Amino acid sequence: MDLSIITSLGYVVASGLFIFGLKMLGSPATARKGNMVSAVGMLVAIVVALLDQGIVEYQFILGGMIVGGAVGAIAARAVAMTSMPEMVALFNGLGGAASLLVGWAALSPDANTFTLITIVLSILIGGVTLTGSLIAYGKLSETLGSGAVMFKGQQLVNSLIILGVFGSAIMFCLEPTDPTWLYVVIGLSLVFGVMAVIPIGGADMPVVISLLNSYSGLAACAAGFAINNNVLIVAGSLVGASGIILTQIMCKAMNRSLSNVLFSGFASVSNETTEIEGEIKPINAEDAYYILEAATNVAIIPGYGMAVAQAQHVVKELANLLEANGAEVNFGIHPVAGRMPGHMNVLLAEADVPYDQLLEMDEINPRMESVDVAIVIGANDVVNPAAREVESSPIYGMPVINVTDARTVFVLKRSMASGFAGIENPLFYKENTRMLFGDAKETISALVRELGG
Ligand code: TAP
Repeated sequence: MDLSIITSLGYVVASGLFIFGLKMLGSPATARKGNMVSAVGMLVAIVVALLDQGIVEYQFILGGMIVGGAVGAIAARAVAMTSMPEMVALFNGLGGAASLLVGWAALSPDANTFTLITIVLSILIGGVTLTGSLIAYGKLSETLGSGAVMFKGQQLVNSLIILGVFGSAIMFCLEPTDPTWLYVVIGLSLVFGVMAVIPIGGADMPVVISLLNSYSGLAACAAGFAINNNVLIVAGSLVGASGIILTQIMCKAMNRSLSNVLFSGFASVSNETTEIEGEIKPINAEDAYYILEAATNVAIIPGYGMAVAQAQHVVKELANLLEANGAEVNFGIHPVAGRMPGHMNVLLAEADVPYDQLLEMDEINPRMESVDVAIVIGANDVVNPAAREVESSPIYGMPVINVTDARTVFVLKRSMASGFAGIENPLFYKENTRMLFGDAKETISALVRELGG
């Protein structure tokens, strides 16, 4: 068979595997397999690309694959679950760097205008992705300060950089034989990556990382056009599109626009001063036990505090005991509970909570009225009824898990402190709410003991 047919077929197979793998990532039950399917797709793409290009020096490539694969495998095993966004940030940055280098290497004297434009795009987007991701990594890991860095004249400086990037990109396309303009594009895009991310606070980094993930895909897509490689174009488009969809989902779930995340230097403390009616009703584990023991339908709503307390294993124990006591137990998962996409799913999967017990917000909300006890574990903003009831609230309109519809609500937290959004939560004052103050792991362990575990 003709080599070009084998190449095309190989690329179609690889693209198909990417698409199926991505689809499988949509559910926790198939996500691991999806990852594997996509990885096989990548292997097919690499082998076919090597054949296609007639690369004969395999020893360096094999060496690179072994060393790179080993570093990746060790890093992925060693990284703590909570540090996953940092690792993704680094991966995105490396993806951007690769596209920058591929675009640069694609430069040849006989390149036409279209190729020149794609080269410049892969370098520009790749450069921004590289340094933007490194800053995001630094902010998340707190190697750099996590606060928003803002200064007078920042927008003017950024506008000048953008003008400079586009001006030098145009000059390069007009004058491709002189590499000076290309060096200016590279330099300015690296600077712009830094400037674009420093004004964003550390807490918004998950959104930024998802956006940079999308950029790394776009850069790869442009590099694919530059070297005329179909599978790179397909893979880049898939990453670009999925990154932007995830960014949108996060922004919507936080009730914020993307421009608000990118340009506001987010002040997490709001000035909201609404008077809240009602009183706080604290109870202890023993009293909570009597209510729980009689419950036939329990919903557990975890949030950031469950991650802080590392309470996922005792939560699973509690769920087992409640089920043994005859109750139906489900978990309500808000899309931005915690501090990274899928944070709660990952923690609960680690504790072997069955996937079919994890219900998304849209699934659990209609069932909430038949729930006897909703146990809110270290969640605050994602269960805040102000989002439905208080029009002046900064989170008004944000979709939340409607725990107030349950017969009784237990809220497990250490104090009356607010959550990430820095706003008061009327849930704590509701007639049917009982506060169980203390570290979530200790409180749940006490409940487990009461239930005879
Ligand atoms: P938060 O609203 O941040 O509330 C977490 C609560 O956990 C706090 O009120 C805290 O109260 C409690 N807590 C902390 N440590 C605890 C411990 N050891 N034991 C018991 N409770 C503890 O969390 P959420 O409801 O999960 O909402 C997430 C927030 O993060 C949203 O505002 C969301 O927009 C934002 N955000 C999410 C993401 C993603 S992708 N998930 C990304 C960026 C921002 P105490 O201090 O009183 O204990």
